Amino acid sequence: MTHDTHPAAPPPPGAGFIEHIPGTLPLKHPEKHPQAKGVGVLGLHEGRTLLIGMETRCQFVRSVAGCDLSEDKLAASERELPHLFYTPDYDAMLARDDVDIIAIYTPDAMHADHICKAFEAGKDVICTKPLVNSLEHAGRILETGRRTGRRLLVGQSSRFFEPMRRQRRDLERGRYGGLPGIELVDAHYIHRMDWYYRKSPWAASDTDWIFLGMSHPIDLVRWYLGRIREVQAFGVRSAMGQSFGVKGNDIVIANFIAEDGRIGRAMGHYGCHELPTARNCIELMLYGKGGSSLAQYHDMRYIHAGEGDDEMTEITEDHLYAGRHRYFNSEVHGMHYGEFANYADHFGQALIEGRDASPGLEEGVETFCVMEAVRRASRGGAPVEVMPLLKEVGVE
Ligand SMILES: NC(=O)c1ccc[n+]([C@@H]2O[C@H](COP(=O)([O-])OP(=O)(O)OC[C@H]3O[C@@H](n4cnc5c(N)ncnc54)[C@H](O)[C@@H]3O)[C@@H](O)[C@H]2O)c1
Repeated sequence: MTHDTHPAAPPPPGAGFIEHIPGTLPLKHPEKHPQAKGVGVLGLHEGRTLLIGMETRCQFVRSVAGCDLSEDKLAASERELPHLFYTPDYDAMLARDDVDIIAIYTPDAMHADHICKAFEAGKDVICTKPLVNSLEHAGRILETGRRTGRRLLVGQSSRFFEPMRRQRRDLERGRYGGLPGIELVDAHYIHRMDWYYRKSPWAASDTDWIFLGMSHPIDLVRWYLGRIREVQAFGVRSAMGQSFGVKGNDIVIANFIAEDGRIGRAMGHYGCHELPTARNCIELMLYGKGGSSLAQYHDMRYIHAGEGDDEMTEITEDHLYAGRHRYFNSEVHGMHYGEFANYADHFGQALIEGRDASPGLEEGVETFCVMEAVRRASRGGAPVEVMPLLKEVGVE
C-alpha cells in the first residue's frame, strides 16, 4: 500500500464544496462559532447520531433539542446528552427560539409534512435522504420552501464521507482532468436489509428501495453528471424482500444519460448476502479523461491513479483507522457520526455566511425526480425522460 504524497494545489476560485478537511486524529472538540446555529433533531434513531456528532465535532451548529414519539428513544439520547431539551411533541420543539434548524430523521413518507411544518414555523431544515418519496410531496416542499424563503440541506451522507470528500476535492482542484473530465460514473449501494425490516417495518410498506437505498448512488451519479436527461432501468424483487412483503423492487440496475451526453449507472440490492471484504456496500467509481478513482464506504479507502502520478503506482489512501474516531465514534465500523456532523457543519457555516449549501432544496427535488424516473423505468421497461417530472413538480 502506498500513500498519497501529492502536494496540495490551492483550490480554483469558485470551487467550494470542500474547502478544508479537518484532521482525523485524535477527535478534537472544536470551539463553537459565536453564531453557531441551534439544531433540534426529529426522530432519534439515526437522529441520535447527529445529536452526538454535532456536540463533539461541529463548529457552526450545536445540539439543543431532541424529539421522538418513543419514550425509549428520548431516554437513550437523554442518557448521553442530559443537558438538551427533550419532548415527544414536535410543536413544542418548533416553538423554541433556540432552535434555528430542524433536522429530520423520521420515516421517509413523513419527511414532507415535517419539512413543511418546520418551514412554516420559520426554521431552516436538514432532511436525511431520501428527501421525499412521492411527486406530490416533492412539489409541496418546493412550493413551501420558495414561499417561506427558508433554506434546506439534504443529508446525503455518502457525499460527506472522507473518501468521497477527498475524491471530490481532487477533482475540484483539477486533478485527473477535473470535474468536466469525468466520462463515466459507476455507483452502487448494496446492503442486506432483513435487520432493517425488523427494526423499521415501514421500510417494506411505506417507501421504495429506489428512494430509501438508491438515493445514495443516484445522488452520487447526478452530483458528477449534472442534469440527467433519460433513465433506463430494470428491477426485480428478491426472495428476502418478498418474505418481508416489500411492495416495490429491491434489486435494481439503472443507466443514465446526462443532458450533456455523459453516461453513468447505479445499482442497488437489498436482499442479498454481502461480500464486504470484496466489495464495499457503497462505492463510487469515476473514470475521467486524466485518471480514475474509487471511493469506498465502509472501509474508508480512496484509490486513484492517473496523469501526474507515478505510472507504476496506484495510490491507496486508507483512512479507516486514523479516521475511525471522527467517523465511527472510535469503533472501526459503526453509525454515521462523522458524515452527519460534516454536513450539519457545512449547512451551519453556509447559513451564518448567508450562502446556499449543496445539496439544497431544488437539487434534492431534482434528485428525487431522477429516482422517480428510475422507479417508473424499472417497472415498465421503457426509458423515462426526467424533464416532464421536473416540470410537474415545478423545477426550472
Ligand atoms: N445514511 C443515512 O443518511 C441514513 C441511514 C439510515 C437511515 N436514514 C434515513 O433516516 C430516516 C429514519 O431512519 P431510521 O433508520 O432512523 O428509522 P427508525 O424507524 O429507526 O426511526 C424513526 C424514528 O422516528 C420516530 N418518529 C416517527 N414519527 C414521529 C413523529 N411524528 N414525531 C417524532 N418522532 C417520530 C420514531 O419513533 C422512530 O424513533 C429515514 O428516512 C431513513 O431513510 C438515513
